[in-house]
Amino acid sequence: MTDRAALNNMPIGVFDSGVGGLTVLNEIRRVLPGEDLIYLGDTARVPYGTKSSVSITRYAEQALRALLSHKIKALVIACNTVSAVALDPLRAAHPELPIFGVVEPGAAVACRASKAGHIGVIATESTINNLAYHKAIISLRPDATVRGRACSLFVALAEEGWHEGELVEGIVRQSLGNLLHVDGDNALDTLVLGCTHFPALRGAIQSVVGGGVLLVDSAVTTADALAKSLTECNLCADRAVPGHVRFLVTDGPERFARVAPNFFSEHVDVSKVELVDIQHFGSDQAI
Ligand code: DGL
Repeated sequence: MTDRAALNNMPIGVFDSGVGGLTVLNEIRRVLPGEDLIYLGDTARVPYGTKSSVSITRYAEQALRALLSHKIKALVIACNTVSAVALDPLRAAHPELPIFGVVEPGAAVACRASKAGHIGVIATESTINNLAYHKAIISLRPDATVRGRACSLFVALAEEGWHEGELVEGIVRQSLGNLLHVDGDNALDTLVLGCTHFPALRGAIQSVVGGGVLLVDSAVTTADALAKSLTECNLCADRAVPGHVRFLVTDGPERFARVAPNFFSEHVDVSKVELVDIQHFGSDQAI
């Protein structure tokens, strides 16, 4: 095998704080079926969405180094919280590695889709506090109004398989709070599901916000951006057989395999979910 073919056939790393990134993995599998993928879920330390930027950046650096030890050719941060908080420092510390986040693709799809430019963002507390979506949307569409709301509780609902019904809609309504209470010309026309867990609650969220509000998430656009970049850099896998997915978790392989169907369309066999310790991939390099 030539050096070029060996490079092309290296896996792509996909990282999330837990299981939510499987919604992005679905789209990567669909768009790039020939690629080998290594999914790392930091299930020992999830949720990230309520943690400080310092901790999130440290965890993400450890995950990146753990995946680099598996010789990945690119990394997808399949987590809005990590993308919002740590994408820039990770890119600065690892200029040799193509790193894709989910916030910019999500913002881009919202800006394209929104007619009136009244865009809401629901995400974890860290993503909302960081204003990453706000900045990304305004940079693409300066006329937009952006309103954010932290809905961290949705992460637990999505993982527990509570996706619909009166109780879930009640929690969604309560959580969306003042996002729903703007009428007339300023009412939302687009709502970004700014957390990889939230597509699991799409039905309940849509019933609460009503059919007039377009829901968007970044899974499809992130996978498309990855495919475009790999193609442009001549880095796509060069083999006829379908790629395979390897799953690494930092805690609870059984729970991961049990919860995975809430987010991923392929069967995840628990015997194939590997337990790893990533904390020894320390941050000797300051970022
Ligand atoms: N998957 C994370 C995101 O997209 C949310 C889960 C967490 O809080 O760790 O923001």
